Order: sequence, then structure tokens, then C-alpha cells
Amino acid sequence: MTWNNLLLEKEDGIAVLSVNRPKVLNALNEETLKELGDAFSHLENDAEVNVIILTGAGDKAFVAGADIAFMQKLTPIQAKEFARLGQTVFSKIENLKKPVIAAINGFALGGGNELSMSCDIRIASDKAKFGQPEVNLGIMAGFGGTQRLTRLVNPGIAKEILMTADMYDAQAAQRIGLVNHVVTPEELMPFAKSMAKRIAARGPVACRLTKEAVNDGLEMDLEKAFILEADLFGLVFATSDRNEGIDAFLNKRKPEFKNE
Ligand code: HXC
Repeated sequence: MTWNNLLLEKEDGIAVLSVNRPKVLNALNEETLKELGDAFSHLENDAEVNVIILTGAGDKAFVAGADIAFMQKLTPIQAKEFARLGQTVFSKIENLKKPVIAAINGFALGGGNELSMSCDIRIASDKAKFGQPEVNLGIMAGFGGTQRLTRLVNPGIAKEILMTADMYDAQAAQRIGLVNHVVTPEELMPFAKSMAKRIAARGPVACRLTKEAVNDGLEMDLEKAFILEADLFGLVFATSDRNEGIDAFLNKRKPEFKNE
């Protein structure tokens, strides 16, 4: 598969997908968003891929936001459609049947921070910078940022980030829970790949249902979420991976999961 604005590499069950518009710090225009949606659908159905790492091409940016030049000419209705397109693509990533790790190599601003928040796990280089600078432009976050940030950090911190437009370094982002790990730029991809490989070696159906329990449970009251968890726990007992995993443990051997 080839796209105008994305690069894809695959190795040992791990796909590395890069947003590739380095001249504009990987800013997201309509075409790039559509390609991201297409690429994630393709990777979801690719039996060779277990875990996806999303990053930005070049050494400066993960994604520096929605493409400001592209947005300049949008009418209000087109702006709404652009926001809905981004929201739909990011929700697809959030609910993808495979784990997605963001390897944040540089600026993750506006739509770039919103994109990283749709991934399951965020790992940042110590050169990364985070923020929601939309209000600097007289506009606001529109790819899910007002909602995902509020759920990831607390509402007061989210409002500060969204209303000051301040930029935060990776350590600050880690302190507020926006990123899981901070590593050097050289360590970023090896660290992300090593985590992806550990996840890829676990029961894939179990990981998929775990993601579903976390995501869907967040939208429910606690009692209903516990019932969902128990239902999914029961469902995982219908898989051959469950027989394999438990048998491997009891016989002191490594499990060989079949994703079924
Ligand atoms: C279009 C962008 C861009 C963006 C950078 N560029 N960010 N183009 N959209 N979001 C372009 C610059 O115009 C410049 O092009 C080139 O990339 C390099 O950027 P510089 O500004 O020269 O780099 P630097 O001085 O290092 O500053 C880096 C930066 C700055 C701090 C990240 O580029 C910046 O503030 N960018 C905008 C960040 C932003 O506001 N993001 C939020 C966008 S709104 P030339 O041609 O001059 O080389 C958004 C809304 C989402 O995301 C919701 C939509 C519904």
C-alpha cells in the first residue's frame, strides 16, 4: 500500500506508520486524514500485523496540528465537516481491534496532540513538545481534544492546556499523565518496538477485549462496566488461546497464541 502523505514499514508483526509531510511538520490536511483512516483499516485487516506504532517523519515533529493553510479557506460548514472527519478517523484508531502506540518524536500540537490521544499508549522523546495552541489562532480544538484531554488528565488541567495554548515539555506531559514514558530520541523507536513486541506476544484476543473493556467501560457507570468486564471475561474463555495460555503456564512452556 502506498499513500501520498504516509509511510509504512512492517517487521515481525509490528507496523510503523509515519505521517510524512516533514516540510509542514506533518500537519494534517484532509487528504492526510483520509489516508490515515484508510491505512488503519488496512492494518486492522492485515493478518501479518499485531501492533501498530504511529509516529511522525523527520526529527522535528510528530504532528504540529491540523494544516493551518488548508483551514484558512474553509467555510463554517466545511470546518465542521473537517472536524467530523478527524473525529471519525481518530475514533477508528481509538477503537481499532489492534493496539496502537504513539511514538511522539517532536511537536504534538493541536490536532497532533489529539491524534496521539486516540492511541492506546503514548511514549515521548525528551525533545517532544505538547499543547493545544488553537486559541492562539482564534479557533478551538476540534478533533476530539476537548473530550479526550479531559478524560486523560483532569478537567482543570485540560482547560488550562486548552485555554492558555502553553507548550509543555515531555516531562510535564508525563507528570500530568498525558504520556506513559519519556526516553531519549535515540531510544524512542527501540523502546516503542520493544513494548510492541511484548504486547504482540500476549494473547491477541485477550488484548483486544481488554481494550474494549477499558474504552467502553469508561462510557458507563461502574456497575454496568463491571458487568461488561465479566461478560468479556466469559467470552475470552471461549477462545483456544485461553486453553493454550493456561496449559503453557501449567506445563512451564511459552504459549503459542493463534488469535482465536
Ligand atoms: C501548516 C505548518 C503547521 C501547521 C508548521 N507548519 N505547523 N503548516 N499547519 N499546523 C509549517 C510552517 O508554516 C513552516 O512552513 C514549516 O512548517 C516549519 O515551521 P516553522 O514555524 O518555521 O518551525 P519553528 O519555527 O521551529 O516552529 C515550530 C512550531 C510552529 C512551534 C511547531 O510551526 C507552530 O507554531 N506551528 C503551528 C502549531 C499550531 O498552531 N497547531 C495547531 C493547529 S490548529 P514554511 O513554508 O514557512 O517553511 C489544529 C486544529 C485541530 O490543530 C482541529 C481541527 C478541526
